[in-house]
Amino acid sequence: MTQDTKVVPLTLRCEYGENPRGIGEANPRFSWKYSDAAAGARQARYRITVGTAPNQGDLWDSGEVASDQSLFIEYRGKPLRSRQAAFWQLQTWDDQGVSTKSGLGMIELGLIDPDKDITAKWIQTDLVGDEKTSPAVPCLRKTFDLQNIASARLYISALGLYEAYINGKRVGTSHFRPGWTDYNKRVQIDTFDVTALLKQGGNVIGALLGDGWYCGFVGFRNKRNLYGDRPRLLAQLEVTDADGKVTVINSDDTWNWSPSEIVSSDILMGETVDARKKVDDWASNDAPAGDWKKVAVADKPKAKIVCPKGPPCRVTDQIKPIADPALDPTDAQKKRWIFDMGQNMVGVVRLKVKGPAGTTVRIRHAEMLDRDGSMYVENLRDAKATDYYTLRGDTNGETFEPKFTFHGFRYVELSGLAEPPTRDTVTGLVIHSDMELTGHFECSDPLINQLQHCIQWGQRGNFLDVPTDCPQRNERLGWTGDAQVFAPTACFNFDTAGFYAKWQDDLLDSQGENGDSPSFAPTFDFHHDGGPAWADAMIIVPWSAYRAFDDKRLLETHYDSFKRYVDFLEKGNSIDLIRCHPDQAGWRGYGDWLSPDSGDPGRAATPRDLIGTAYFARCAFLLAEIAQRLGKREDEMAYRDLHERVKAAFVKEYLSPGGRLVGDTQTGVLLALAFDLVPKEHRARVEKQLVNLVHDRGDHLCTGFVGTPLLLPTLSAIGQTELAYKVLMQQGYPGWLFTIVQGATTMWERWNSYTKDKGFGDAGMNSFNHYAYGAVGEWIYSTIGGIAMDQNAYKRSIIAPVPGGGITSAKCSVKTPYGLLATDWKDAEKSFELTLIVPPNTSARVTLPIDAKATFTVNGESPTSSAGVSKVEGNAFDVVAGKYQIRASK
Ligand code: BGC
Repeated sequence: MTQDTKVVPLTLRCEYGENPRGIGEANPRFSWKYSDAAAGARQARYRITVGTAPNQGDLWDSGEVASDQSLFIEYRGKPLRSRQAAFWQLQTWDDQGVSTKSGLGMIELGLIDPDKDITAKWIQTDLVGDEKTSPAVPCLRKTFDLQNIASARLYISALGLYEAYINGKRVGTSHFRPGWTDYNKRVQIDTFDVTALLKQGGNVIGALLGDGWYCGFVGFRNKRNLYGDRPRLLAQLEVTDADGKVTVINSDDTWNWSPSEIVSSDILMGETVDARKKVDDWASNDAPAGDWKKVAVADKPKAKIVCPKGPPCRVTDQIKPIADPALDPTDAQKKRWIFDMGQNMVGVVRLKVKGPAGTTVRIRHAEMLDRDGSMYVENLRDAKATDYYTLRGDTNGETFEPKFTFHGFRYVELSGLAEPPTRDTVTGLVIHSDMELTGHFECSDPLINQLQHCIQWGQRGNFLDVPTDCPQRNERLGWTGDAQVFAPTACFNFDTAGFYAKWQDDLLDSQGENGDSPSFAPTFDFHHDGGPAWADAMIIVPWSAYRAFDDKRLLETHYDSFKRYVDFLEKGNSIDLIRCHPDQAGWRGYGDWLSPDSGDPGRAATPRDLIGTAYFARCAFLLAEIAQRLGKREDEMAYRDLHERVKAAFVKEYLSPGGRLVGDTQTGVLLALAFDLVPKEHRARVEKQLVNLVHDRGDHLCTGFVGTPLLLPTLSAIGQTELAYKVLMQQGYPGWLFTIVQGATTMWERWNSYTKDKGFGDAGMNSFNHYAYGAVGEWIYSTIGGIAMDQNAYKRSIIAPVPGGGITSAKCSVKTPYGLLATDWKDAEKSFELTLIVPPNTSARVTLPIDAKATFTVNGESPTSSAGVSKVEGNAFDVVAGKYQIRASK
């Protein structure tokens, strides 16, 4: 019985975004978010209608469905075709019968049947580089006539990187398209609405075509041409006129090409532009005749052509230098100017300069300055990360922005300028996958705030189409171990649902015939099995994303590959269920990578087989959980059984009869406890072992990539949050705040990548933007901020802030798929105050950090009589959606 209709703004999403265009799902999924957190707001029913026109509902009417589900509801209407646009609307009812109507949502499918849909040809030019150098970037173009334009779509892709233009205007705002995939297996095709760019009469379509990952330098091998020797373009422009007639302008042998002013371009090496060669208006009708050659039609790639799932890269921020440029003190000629951007960032520099034609400005990038004040570039290894711009001599000045390269830097050095620069000469354009920032944390301790800042900037710099280890040196690969440990934190910080859905496809494409999973994805000719804690990303990353966003299809789509992977662990990677068994030949993984103990002969390393077996157990457990969620009962039982067997093998191999763990390192013990491998009767002893191992190091961590993410959560789980705070708050080596005190603005690869005392660590592997240790973010959000997940996507959350480490207040929030979940607390000697916002259509269990017998009020009333509060038990209680002021006296 509907009593009333109110229009509460609802945010409508389809698949991974609002009003998506060019999606590849024939059965897209609908989600929505309420903006009103009125107490008790709980959805009781919904109805979705989808139609070919607004308010039509001719494609699907779900009818009224009694359900509180508001995420990923699958379309079940008439089959949707390639290119189909549809409008959708939503009506919901809360448990009081009050109804809410949404505005209009839009979806549009891309080309989902590529063999039929794509009539354009792949085209290429004569420009080819060699083993060491990249060639000029070509511009490709075609002119054509149009009449009576009603609407137009451009479907476009490349092997390489494209930037498209119509009538001189850039199409879209994304960078590095069509993104990085294993081009032998999968290539993404983008969809743009280009109606507004076209005109009656003569038109021009054009594209610049960069080498990118396809044939530029990739990774640490110093090799080019990983996938092919030159880039190719695919463009299909479909223009519908007022009568519904469609004209298609395809890339084919009628296109022409000419070298552009980009003389060379490479992701790792940088970009060189000679502006004197620039042909103005090359992509418009005003272009001079010029010297254009005919393109060649290339073979169709064997790869699948797919619509993108993840967000494209975009410029998300612009940064100005924090001080006036200063001359490099080591430059006797006084020609090198250094700018400090104040933040280690990833992207490019926009240069604004004036000078005579032929003046060449060199732009170098560095994360740090050397002791003598010059640029520290040794850690870039073979990545030259240098751009060059030769001026054409415009009297009004000229602007340069590289297109097909990116750099990781805080400092910018310019040389070759015709006149001294000012702060305005450079702007840092921050580029990364355009995900919504969802997490916020701040507290009374400025060092912890800077750590949070470093974690979020570490993610911004390294979520660039794939989750990379680092963005600056000749590496920048989707290392699976780093990605796996950081995934839970990543899901707090940003809406990574689409980003991870795309990367999971990269993992799938990288899976070996034998079921193994790689060190990095997209992968190439590197030894295959990524080994313990790396390869396991195959299951752990999608599990983290599923928990954070409730994206069940992600699990369904990849279920088979998960099974093949766990099968490999059992049959191809272990002896008697001990993974990477010492008797096993060959590769046994990276161990507890970069543990401060490594290289110290006096210290035992965490055995690789122990890490391997612990992770094997974890993957078997998660696969059983996944099978259960997908209703695969038999599989579930089989993986639960496997999990028990691996656990038993672990105990037999690594736990002494007296209950002492043989891998007597922080990381060894952490794995056993965090992955629940220790039988109940021995837990107390092993917990004590962990505490002692931390005390042995003066309450410092001595963990690497594998142990560090587990340390604070495990200490908290065993009732040692105070000790966890001690470890976190250490300002000495090794530890998080050590790097902060040394001046970090992003996470570093090593705790001592740089120290004020000793300078730089080994330049061979010394990144200043490596997010892995930022995995501590999960603990910061959940323990200091007090926000954790119980049911997926925070349908039910756990609110349990635990003050400590001298922190007296904290504000934390997450824009969950249901809406804003926020805590704001103040801890004083005699009182604890918490303001809590629980999003609509969700609930939470709150536990206050006060004695179970202490008294508290909720919204000024006793908890037992306060609206929205139930199940009060001592210092804990349940709440429904709403805003709560909680005051406790201690
Ligand atoms: C990367 C790491 C990666 C590791 C594998 C390094 O070169 O930068 O982050 O996980 O190799 O051990």
